[in-house]
Amino acid sequence: MELNPVISILGRRLRLAVIGGGSGSFIGAMHRQAARLDDRYEIVTGIFSSNPEKSKKDALALGMNPDRHYSSVQELLDAESARKDGVDVVAIMTPNDTHYEYSMAALEHGFDVICDKPMTNTLEEAEALHKKVQETGLIFCLTHNYTGYPMVRQAKAMVEDGQLGTIRLIQVEYVQGGKANESKPDPSESWRFDPVRGGPSLVMGDIGSHAHNLVRFISGLEVAEVAAEIGNIVPGRAVHDYGGALLRFDNGARGSYWVTQAAAGVENCLRIRVSGTKGTVEWMQEFPQALTFKPLGAPSQNRTPNGPGTLPLSAHSSRIVAGHPEGFHEGFANVYSDAAEAIAARRSGKTPDPLSLYFPNSFDGLMGLKFVFSAIASSNADGKWTKC
Ligand SMILES: NC(=O)c1ccc[n+]([C@@H]2O[C@H](COP(=O)([O-])OP(=O)(O)OC[C@H]3O[C@@H](n4cnc5c(N)ncnc54)[C@H](O)[C@@H]3O)[C@@H](O)[C@H]2O)c1
Repeated sequence: MELNPVISILGRRLRLAVIGGGSGSFIGAMHRQAARLDDRYEIVTGIFSSNPEKSKKDALALGMNPDRHYSSVQELLDAESARKDGVDVVAIMTPNDTHYEYSMAALEHGFDVICDKPMTNTLEEAEALHKKVQETGLIFCLTHNYTGYPMVRQAKAMVEDGQLGTIRLIQVEYVQGGKANESKPDPSESWRFDPVRGGPSLVMGDIGSHAHNLVRFISGLEVAEVAAEIGNIVPGRAVHDYGGALLRFDNGARGSYWVTQAAAGVENCLRIRVSGTKGTVEWMQEFPQALTFKPLGAPSQNRTPNGPGTLPLSAHSSRIVAGHPEGFHEGFANVYSDAAEAIAARRSGKTPDPLSLYFPNSFDGLMGLKFVFSAIASSNADGKWTKC
């Protein structure tokens, strides 16, 4: 791979504006680090809070140029689209209820967009946003960052390569314990507990969307029907902290889906098993370097980043030689870096490296929203099989 495909295409880094992710936000720092890891973006401006004073304070603390401090997202988009050296890309990591408005506004100003999940809070918004992306031809990258891990991409590549045969069964779980206690939510999390701001389901928006996307990413299959129970396991809680479902895939495969944020003591256990006619792969986010491959009739094997058996998509997603650990930051950066290559190619009319086109997009966001609303509808109908 070239040292920096964006600089070799554009002669410069992409100029990035970030919206959200100010002081106190966990994911804001991850986005900024992901943007910088491979040196494909420079972060030139941002709105870091809905409070203009706090936003400017954060902008100064992050070293943003005071000439490019703005009071609102609208002001930023208007001013940057009028500058000769204006930003190319807008990255959105604000609470869920603003993703639609800010993404639409950024696309309307001609910017490519990187947005955190869930893409929107309603299905109508997801459909409209996906349509807008198609109409404008701009790049929309949805940061389902777990798709960036080399071993997740190895699993996908093994499925595409036919090493698992026809997929028959998929089991996914995303289990956390951060919301296991029964006390009132931390006030800093209040938007998450408000259905208008956080969306129709806390657990599905926070982590259920990642689990659904991971299944689709590795298997290449769509969930055709779901039979779900979505609710709360912490008594008295008004928002969803648990979701369990059986899945039927479009090729006839079956699956199970299990997500919660209320399993006391569990940290970030995103785990998947995909079984086909020729074998099974298993992966767990807390030990991301290991992909277990269990071929039919042969001993179990361990695939590692850049180790024996590495396929091109996985090699493309790993920066160092075998045996050197990579993790969350690098996976997140893979999504950013691939989007950068696609954006640079789009801007210069060049063809991007096909291996850079695996980042989640607005179609994936739309499928995510369809799944969430179908699962909720199924749960409301006492677990009735419901089309997605
Ligand atoms: N990809 C992941 O793994 C992952 C992990 C955590 C959060 N997220 C997503 O990131 C988003 C933010 O989550 P969070 O945990 O950082 O929330 P948070 O409440 O911790 O932080 C939100 C940040 O956005 C800022 N903000 C709020 N409204 C704003 C506005 N109108 N304009 C500009 N800035 C604004 C706040 O000042 C704060 O800095 C959510 O959509 C969430 O789903 C994704």
